[in-house]
Amino acid sequence: MPADPAFLLGGVQVTASRFWIVEEDSYLGAIELRHVLTPVMVEAVGHIGYNVRPTARGRGIATWALKAVLPHAHSAGLSRVLLTCDEQNLASARTIEGNGGVLEDVRDTELGRKRRYGIEL
Ligand SMILES: CC(C)(COP(=O)(O)OP(=O)(O)OC[C@H]1O[C@@H](n2cnc3c(N)ncnc32)[C@H](O)[C@@H]1OP(=O)(O)O)[C@@H](O)C(=O)NCCC(=O)NCCS
Repeated sequence: MPADPAFLLGGVQVTASRFWIVEEDSYLGAIELRHVLTPVMVEAVGHIGYNVRPTARGRGIATWALKAVLPHAHSAGLSRVLLTCDEQNLASARTIEGNGGVLEDVRDTELGRKRRYGIEL
């Protein structure tokens, strides 16, 4: 379900689509697609972010949600998406890698040390 039309970071707002992940009438998490990126977002945030509530983790939900959002990114005109995660966030790294993410680099950013991946659409 698309909701928030914008993503705000460092006082700069970009167009975004947010999808809720639901199971029957339970909210399990959300995934957000940013249509454009500011320089800080290129550095440390990427096009797609997600979270799954703790009680629903480990069921493949983030992997499924990321796969489901990639066609929306393509429809939004993107041919490649950038995804980042904290260096120690193995669950997020595995989610990205499970969707064909190729590690571009690991770098120190103003939001911490990040693994940066690309997914070709
Ligand atoms: C990251 C997060 C979204 C993963 O959600 P999830 O629905 O549990 O993920 P999945 O079940 O799809 O698992 C994805 C992969 O991570 C692995 N994984 C899950 N939890 C893990 C953990 N605690 N440690 C290491 N690997 C883990 C799974 O085995 C799976 O790998 P596989 O495909 O090789 O088997 C969830 O942990 C979360 O919301 N974390 C807090 C917010 C966050 O970090 N968001 C990402 C910001 S970049």
